[in-house]
Formats: sequence, structure tokens, C-alpha cells
Amino acid sequence: MYKIAVIGGDGIGPEVTTEALKVLKRASEIYGFQYKTTEYPFGSEHYLKTGELVPESAYDEYRDHDAIYLGAIGDPRVEVGLVERAVIAGIRFRLDLYINLRPIKLYAESLCPLKGKKIEDVNMVVVRENTEDVYTGIGGIMKKDTPDEVAIANMIFTRKGCERAVRYAFELAKERKKDNKVTLVDKANAIRAQDIWTRTVEQVGKEYPGITHDHAYIDAACMWMVKNPEWFDVVVTTNIFGDIFTDLGAMVQGGMGIAASGNIHPGQVSMFESIHGSAPKYKDQNVACPIAAIMAAQMMLDYLGEKKAAAAIEEAVGSLLRSGRIKSLDTKSGISTSEMGDMVVREMKGA
Ligand code: IPM
Ligand code: MN
Repeated sequence: MYKIAVIGGDGIGPEVTTEALKVLKRASEIYGFQYKTTEYPFGSEHYLKTGELVPESAYDEYRDHDAIYLGAIGDPRVEVGLVERAVIAGIRFRLDLYINLRPIKLYAESLCPLKGKKIEDVNMVVVRENTEDVYTGIGGIMKKDTPDEVAIANMIFTRKGCERAVRYAFELAKERKKDNKVTLVDKANAIRAQDIWTRTVEQVGKEYPGITHDHAYIDAACMWMVKNPEWFDVVVTTNIFGDIFTDLGAMVQGGMGIAASGNIHPGQVSMFESIHGSAPKYKDQNVACPIAAIMAAQMMLDYLGEKKAAAAIEEAVGSLLRSGRIKSLDTKSGISTSEMGDMVVREMKGA
């Protein structure tokens, strides 16, 4: 019996979460696993209503679950970043979810904005370090709104943090049937502190004789993502570069409507979400694309060990996209949020 904490969150979050849960239910019927969900109200609406962000007790409760499923967070009515930091970063940091796993995979040629790229050309996984870098919040602002104002955000990397991300990437490259290659994406030429990444990859790489490794500076990596995405297999990178690089990747695979992620601490409760977009203006209109949310549930099942169920969801989504029954992954697909969820459910084959 899997225990899953569910946070629908803001904007379209609750609607797309409903569709993901529909698909989860169908998967459990076909593949015979059992689960129980606990819903949490955290998000901007809850904050506006109650003044509460996330109570301390929630983290202990999360730890008592096998996975956390998150819809989306972000609402323009609330101070910038406040709820994101509490709900998303709160979970990532407090539960030490040190890997942000972001597959970038094209399921249908028509979804790719790049000319001449085929599905086999876009198939990589980004391992974004998830607990360090400028996201630690160490720093601040002094003499605010004066001519002497100082703003500092520290880019922090620890040996432990780099090493566990790099090792995860090498293990993944070993498992994946592509090029058995790890590409470090950094900016070690301008940011010399990132030499820690260069050396960590060199050292860990020695433990993996079957896996090659190379590196690309983040600016060049963005260029390659557009020019030659086929060059990437497993990418390992820092928190902030991974954040930006995967939005670019999301566009190459068809948009925010399909990009999913896992915030993972291997062996412990981990969190699954779309790579983002609460899209408040589309809230409650039943037009948001739920595929990214469904793929986040797919990643969750894969993480939980329900490999067949995960593969079946991926196959169902892939088949709907390849056949053109779902033509676009934005609000203009002509298919409502709930109907798209139903389509995935119907497409899932029995065991
Ligand atoms: C993401 C998001 C978050 C991040 C925001 C919402 C804080 O952009 O998951 O990529 O920057 O990590
Ligand atoms: Mn992001």
C-alpha cells in the first residue's frame, strides 16, 4: 500500500492533479497495486485565507509517506517567491531531495519546434542538483532602496552535494540504453568555484570505466540543445543552470504541457511535479494540458517500483501523441483537461 501525499496547489494545479490521479487509479486497477492519498491544502489560496504557509508538522507527515505529488505553485496575488519557497523549496530542502530528475524526450516529431529533428534526436535526462547553489537562500539585501544598497546571493557547492549528483548521473548513464555518456554542464571558465564540479566528475568518472564523460559550458549547452540535442544523453548540472536549461529542453520536447520531474532522495520519500506552470489565468477553465502532470505521476510510479504501470502510462501518452489524437500540449489543443485525462485512461492497455 503506497502512501501518497497530494498537494494540488495553485492555478491549474488542482485540475491537472485530478487528471493525474485518474490515470494513477486506472494504473492501480490494471497492475494491481494499492495506494492511499492524503490531500494537503498548501498553496497561495490557503495562505491568503489562513495566513499559514506550511506548518512544521507537515514535514513529519510527508516523511511518513512513500511519495509526494505536487500540482503547481505560483499566484500573482502573493509576494514573489514566498509560497514557492515554502512549498516547493521547503520540500526539496527539508526532505533533502538532492536530485531533480528531468527527462527531455520527444514523443512526436510534430511537437518539436526545431526543424528536421526526429524523435530519436531528443532523448536525454537532466540531473539537476537540487539542494545547493543560489537556491540555499544564504545572502540578503542591506541598505535597501538606498544608493548604497548591496544584494548578495551565494552560489554554494559542497563536495557531498556535487558528488551525490554526479554519481547519480553516472549510474543513470549506465542504466540507459543510449550513449553511456555523462555531460557536465557548468560555467567553470567564468565561475571558478565550479571547478569543484569539474574535479568531481573526473574523480567519480574513474569509477565508471564504461561511461564516457565530457562537459559543455551552460551557454554553449543552450546552443547545442537547439542545434544538436541528439548529442546529450545524461546531463548533470547545478541547480540554477538545471532550472533554466530544462525550460529550454521542455520547449524542445513540446512545451510545459509535457515536461515532468522527480525530486528524489533515493530510498526515501520523494516528490513529483510538472517542471512548472500554475498558469493562473487558465484556472478552472478546463483547458490546461494535463499531460505533464500525468507524466509526473508516471515518474512517481517508476520511482515506487511500479515499472510496468509506469511504462504503460508512457506508452499510452506516446501513442496519443504519435497518432496525432493529441496534436498540441497547450491550451489550444481543442481537448479539455478532463477529456485529455480520460483519453489517457482509455488508451492504457490491460495487463
Ligand atoms: C522549477 C521552478 C522552481 C525552481 C520555482 C517555482 C521556485 O521553476 O521547479 O523549475 O526555480 O526550481
Ligand atoms: Mn524552473
